[in-house]
Amino acid sequence: MTRLLHLDASPRPGRAGTHDHGSHTRRLTHHFVSRWRALEPGAEIVYRDIGIEPPQLTSVEWIEAAFTPTENRSESMQAVLAESDTLTSEVERADILVLGVPMYNFGPPAAFKAWIDNVIRLGRTVDYDSKYGHHPHLPLEYYLPMLVDRPRHAVLLSSRGDHGFDPGGRLAALNHMEPSARTALQFIGIAGFHSIAIEHQEEGGEALAASTQSALARIDRLVEHLHSEIAAQQLPQPA
Ligand SMILES: Cc1cc2nc3c(=O)[nH]c(=O)nc-3n(C[C@H](O)[C@H](O)[C@H](O)COP(=O)(O)O)c2cc1C
Repeated sequence: MTRLLHLDASPRPGRAGTHDHGSHTRRLTHHFVSRWRALEPGAEIVYRDIGIEPPQLTSVEWIEAAFTPTENRSESMQAVLAESDTLTSEVERADILVLGVPMYNFGPPAAFKAWIDNVIRLGRTVDYDSKYGHHPHLPLEYYLPMLVDRPRHAVLLSSRGDHGFDPGGRLAALNHMEPSARTALQFIGIAGFHSIAIEHQEEGGEALAASTQSALARIDRLVEHLHSEIAAQQLPQPA
């Protein structure tokens, strides 16, 4: 059974194509999850809406609690970390993260960054080799991603008002969205990364319609590809 975490980060409720002024990213995540469910009706799908309920921001209390060893945490520290613990458990459990994240000011909305900051947890989703000391300023390669017990994938489904943000496009150098998400997720061990975006939201009309159809078709192909890859991994292996 495949386990999906379906996450929406747009503050706009409703889905484009179904609801007036609905969200394009919510349309894409809904499409991905619906297609997956059609191929695997028994898949587990956990839903998290950070657009409507953004996660807490990191605070001095959060930092103090997160960097105190688990066994030494006071009750108030545990309470401060409760939401982060829940969000992190959802990521640990998932095989595929289906992330609907609009482009805001060349990067993700603040709610998505808050989510990232809550699920990168030292000693839980990432660690470092203790031979380098306990408060090190380490080069990246000394950190140990912890979500490596099985292959995991992130599918980043985005939407942009403008166009040309994909690799090779006229605005590619200004796109701080997919690169930052990919780096953060790979840092904790989510090695598979796939991104599909709608563009031309501001222009609308045929340009938006064509971009939307292309994104939906690419999602169909990605679902089929990931589904067969995961099904092959789940087959009994020869002794
Ligand atoms: C606050 C804000 C900032 C935005 N910044 C950008 C941007 O930097 N580049 C861009 O192409 N579109 C930008 N847009 C347009 C959104 O990416 C576009 O409306 C997208 O469809 C939003 O996702 P949603 O439909 O899922 O809500 C911005 C929109 C808002 C509301």
